[in-house]
Amino acid sequence: MKKFILFLFPLAALFAAAPGPEVTTEKDPTIPAEIETLLNKYGCNACHSVKRKLVGPMWQDIGAKGYSKKRIAALVKKPEPANWPGYPAMQPQTTVPKGDLDKIAGWIVTLKG
Ligand code: HEC
Repeated sequence: MKKFILFLFPLAALFAAAPGPEVTTEKDPTIPAEIETLLNKYGCNACHSVKRKLVGPMWQDIGAKGYSKKRIAALVKKPEPANWPGYPAMQPQTTVPKGDLDKIAGWIVTLKG
C-alpha cells in the first residue's frame, strides 16, 4: 500500500506541474475524423497539434511551409531536422503505409499558417 502511494505521488506532482493550455486532451476541432484516426494510430498526435507547439511543430506551421504532398510524405519517412531549428530531430516514421501517408500529407497541404 505504501509503495502504491509513493508511486502515485510523483505522478500527481507531474500533472500539477504541467503548464496550462500546452497539455490537454481536448480534441482539435479542425482535424477531419478520418485523419485524426490516422494521426492517433501512428502516434503523430503525441508530438504534433494543429495550433499548439508540442514536441514537434504545429500542423499549421508545417502546412504554411508550402510543401507539396509528395515532399511531405518524403519528409515523414526521412526527416530533415535542419528545416526546424530549435526542435529535436523527428525519428523517421517508416511504419505508415503509403495510402495512409498520402491521406495525412494531403490534409497537411490544406493547412495555412
Ligand atoms: C516523438 C515526436 C514526434 C512524432 C511521434 C512525430 N513527429 Fe513529426 N516532427 C517532430 C519534430 C520534433 C519535428 C521537427 C524536426 C524535424 O523535422 O526533424 C517534426 C517534423 C515533422 C514534419 C515537418 C518536416 C519538415 O522537414 O518540414 C512533418 C510533415 C511531420 N513531422 C509529420 C509527422 C507525421 C505524419 C507523424 C506520424 C506518422 C509524425 N510527424 C510523428 C516530432 C514528432
